[in-house]
Amino acid sequence: MADVDNVKEGKQFHVDVPAVSESFFLKGSNSLDWGTKNRLSNIFNPDTGRTVMLAIDHGYFQGPTTGLERIDVNILPLLPYSDTLMLTRGILRSIVPPTYTRGIVMRSSGGPSILKELSNEQLAVDIEDVIRLNCSAMAVQVHIGGEFETQTVHNLTRLVDIGNRYGIPTLAVTAVGRQMVRDAKYMRLASRICAELGASYVKTYYVPEGFETVTASCPVPIVIAGGKKLPELDALKMASNAIQQGAAGVDMGRNIFQSDAPVTMIQAVRKVVHEGETPEHAHDYFLSMKREEVKVG
Ligand code: 5RP
Repeated sequence: MADVDNVKEGKQFHVDVPAVSESFFLKGSNSLDWGTKNRLSNIFNPDTGRTVMLAIDHGYFQGPTTGLERIDVNILPLLPYSDTLMLTRGILRSIVPPTYTRGIVMRSSGGPSILKELSNEQLAVDIEDVIRLNCSAMAVQVHIGGEFETQTVHNLTRLVDIGNRYGIPTLAVTAVGRQMVRDAKYMRLASRICAELGASYVKTYYVPEGFETVTASCPVPIVIAGGKKLPELDALKMASNAIQQGAAGVDMGRNIFQSDAPVTMIQAVRKVVHEGETPEHAHDYFLSMKREEVKVG
């Protein structure tokens, strides 16, 4: 009963110090609940406001993707450098050590394989399992303009409603069908629809013309997908341009894990995203450190 024993004069109420009332560091996120903000802080670094998400969920529709054949061998060495892992619950449970304490973004939609119509997705995980696995967010594919557009939009809104009940953010992943033009007009349309319908943050592709209008017209943070494998300097330029034009980070897969030196590449990406390094400097780092990784590997 230390408080009862204490003399009252010893208490420090700091009556002259106003209580701190800070706004949350992420765009459009100030009115979210404490738990949601706490989970978003496991994804975005509060010091930089940015994230390097490592996307390794490709197997949910295309099986053992190049670079992801052996996640235990090829991907686990990257974990110390990812702010967040985006993956399926199957890979999380079977391969990722539970000592990984950074954010987990759970792939929460699925259904069709690459052999079928990809927009025909449904929700593929129960909220109880997302909570049991201590995830920081749920990711759902949204196919604006796709054959099953409305179904995927409903997947998003259902997930947002369920997530809001438990303080779990939703990442809307804008999926661009093969027949669609990947330009700023499409990305503005898709990302804005996702934000309007409640996504906590949105993943889009980077477009060289007008990407700043995509980030400007989306009221919540945008992260970019890496897309198909590019030469490392080009991938670093893309990440840098996206950040300069308002993106809050990357959710990158193939451009990291299909690199000849993935551990070095993810560190080069971090330099661009978190340290504001130029892509050329980050690439010099990649070239100088790559030899070590390839030698050791
Ligand atoms: C699959 C995804 C992937 O996570 C996404 O495409 C990121 O990976 P990459 O950088 O290889 O494009 O959402 O639909």
